[in-house]
Amino acid sequence: MDSKDPLKNLRDKFYIPKHTNGEDVIYFGGNSLGLQPRSLRSYVEQELLDWEKIALAGHTHAKNPWLPYHEFLTEQTARLTGAESNEVVNMNSLTTNLHLLFVSFYRPTKTRHKILIEASAFPSDHYAVQSQIRFHGYNVEDSLLEMKPRENEDTIRTEDIEAMIEKEGDSIALIWFAGVNYYTGQAFEFERIVKAGHKKGCIAGFDLAHATGNIELKLHEWNVDFAVWCNYKYMNAGPGAIGGAFVHEKHLKDNSIPKFLGWWGHDKKTRFLMDHKYIPILTAESWQLSNPPILQLASLKASLDIFEEAGMEALRNKSELLTGYLEFLINEIKDDNIKIITPANKNERGCQLSLRINKGGKDLYNELMESGLVCDWREPDVIRVAPVPLYNSFEDVWKFYKKLI
Ligand SMILES: Cc1ncc(COP(=O)(O)O)c(C=O)c1O
Repeated sequence: MDSKDPLKNLRDKFYIPKHTNGEDVIYFGGNSLGLQPRSLRSYVEQELLDWEKIALAGHTHAKNPWLPYHEFLTEQTARLTGAESNEVVNMNSLTTNLHLLFVSFYRPTKTRHKILIEASAFPSDHYAVQSQIRFHGYNVEDSLLEMKPRENEDTIRTEDIEAMIEKEGDSIALIWFAGVNYYTGQAFEFERIVKAGHKKGCIAGFDLAHATGNIELKLHEWNVDFAVWCNYKYMNAGPGAIGGAFVHEKHLKDNSIPKFLGWWGHDKKTRFLMDHKYIPILTAESWQLSNPPILQLASLKASLDIFEEAGMEALRNKSELLTGYLEFLINEIKDDNIKIITPANKNERGCQLSLRINKGGKDLYNELMESGLVCDWREPDVIRVAPVPLYNSFEDVWKFYKKLI
């Protein structure tokens, strides 16, 4: 499979960390922190050089002028997320963007104040959502609706989400789901969730931390209202990298939507006239507050250029094979102690498989890590393994299996 893999050379574009024995580790941790593109340093160095040589003039005369720098990433970000180019912007980080977009899209009223969220959503989302509910003067007990799987099931059925929305929809202000759940690896059916929500008058937003760069997205076509993501996992832009945000075109010209404002959201032609009357940019850029960190954007640009070269469709094709192979091998082990809780249907997952280990999970995880594998452990009982099509091989999957048995 590796010899036939049309994307096999992409691995050479990344630094693969070394185990203490000098060999490459098997890196299945790209769902947590993606590997460093070898090209990234030169993208950052270009900006350091311009800063060194021309300083202030870099805003307009750097090789890649800083004033419009974020625009150089827009088309690629839009292609990656299935958005129109006016619908995306890279700014801040995920939880910050979540709050900024909740200012616009969580507008509770006496009769419609609930947020529907997965019970197993990432903790930061829970904290953020709870604080938003309280900020608006409501109680978490009354206003937070948590969606759980059925008893003895690990993932949530779409028909159950639809039924919940049908039943509670009149009181739901906002549906907030992950694109791919961080714990189970379940990819949600965006289109069905959005459709069910809109039918009842709810707004539908998504946390794409584990989805961007992992699965194919069609945010515009699916009619998603808004979304946010980070760029340090599958996007390989480095620890704490700048985040991304999407706002559907249909909301962009709606002046009734409340928004926190800053000068970087102001009309570009008149931004430097320094008066105090705010004129918004009529794109997702108007959610920007500050001028963005150029070194961060440079890192992300390095990664986006690799995604552009590979193409998301080709990456996804390989990803399905890679994860399918991992699944096949794990199922061969026939050990009751290991259960894959990620859906078996490839349309309901990205590259990650979550292995529930009934007994001794933490010890097994530690053993794997000591043997030169990088994956991660999530309390209480799951090892997450993410073969990433950009830099993992079928041989990596095979070696993982050999370590596991
Ligand atoms: C699903 C999900 N949401 C939110 C976050 C928090 O991201 P940040 O620290 O960039 O705000 C993470 C971080 O891993 C995550 O996985």
